[in-house]
Amino acid sequence: MAIWNLGSINIDQTYRLDSLPKPGETLASRNHSFGLGGKGANQSVAAAMAGAVTHHLGAMGTGDDWVLDSLASKGVDTTHIARLPDEATGHAIIMVDRDAENAIIIHPGANRAIDEAALTETLAGFSDRDILLIQNETNGQVAAAKAARAQGARVIYSAAPFDLDAVRDVLPHVSILAMNEGEAAQLFASLSGDMTVQGLLITRGSQGAEYHDLTDNQTYEQASFKVTPVDTTGAGDTFAGYFAAGLDAGLAIPGALRRASAAAALQVTREGAGDAIPTSSEVDAFLADQS
Ligand code: RIB
Repeated sequence: MAIWNLGSINIDQTYRLDSLPKPGETLASRNHSFGLGGKGANQSVAAAMAGAVTHHLGAMGTGDDWVLDSLASKGVDTTHIARLPDEATGHAIIMVDRDAENAIIIHPGANRAIDEAALTETLAGFSDRDILLIQNETNGQVAAAKAARAQGARVIYSAAPFDLDAVRDVLPHVSILAMNEGEAAQLFASLSGDMTVQGLLITRGSQGAEYHDLTDNQTYEQASFKVTPVDTTGAGDTFAGYFAAGLDAGLAIPGALRRASAAAALQVTREGAGDAIPTSSEVDAFLADQS
C-alpha cells in the first residue's frame, strides 16, 4: 500500500582515487562530485523509482533545499522531513577506488536528532498493509518499529552500518532483516537464541542474493546480473528499496529479488548513490535484454 522509510539523508562528497589511502597517507583525488545519499534516502529513492508510494521520515538542517527537491523529483514524499535549525544536514565522505570499492565516513548531524514522539505519532496512522523501512543511520528505530508492528505492518530492517547493539535492540520488532554477507557473519557469530524475524535477506554483491523464509524454511536464490561496476556506493540500498517495493506491489519473493538485483546491477554502472538509481522502466528494459 505504501512504504514509510525512517532513514538518513546525506550529502555525499565522493572522491575517486586509484587506491584507498592507508593510515598516514595523503592522496590527491582524480575526481570529486557531490550528490544525494544516505542509506535511508537511497532506499526511499529506490522504492519510489520502483513505483511504490514512498514517504520519507527523517530530518535535515535548514539549508540544502536542493536535497529535498532532488528527493521530491524522484517521487519521494518529503512532507515528514523535519528541518532542524541547530543541526547540520548529514553528510558523507566517500572514497571510491579504481575497482569501484569504497570507504565511507558519515557525519550523522540531523539524522540522529529526529523527534521520536513526532515519529510515533505519524506511525500511529499506519495501515497493516504498509511497510516500514529502517537502517542504522538515524535514531528512533526501536520506537518506529514498535509503532509500525503495533499496527500490524511489516518492518524491513537493513542492519547497516552494522552495529551489534543496535541490531539486538531492534531485532525483536523486525519482520525482515536485510544484511550483506559480512554483516550476516558478524551477527550470527554473536547472537545466541532463535532468530525471531520472518525473513532474512542476504546480499552478496556480485555473488547474488538469497532470501530465507523462516516461516516455512524455504530459501530463494537470485544470481547477480553481470555488469562492469564503476561505483558500488548505494547498491545495497537500491536492492533493499526495490525489494521492499516489490513486496509492496504484491510480487512473490523470486520476482521481488529479480527486480531488486537488476536495479542494483544497473545502479553500480553509474557514478553516485541516490542519483544513480534506475527507474522502473530502465529495470524493465535491462531485464528484457537478459537471456
Ligand atoms: O550506502 C551508501 C550510503 O552510505 C551513502 O550514500 C552514504 O551517504 C552512506 O550513508
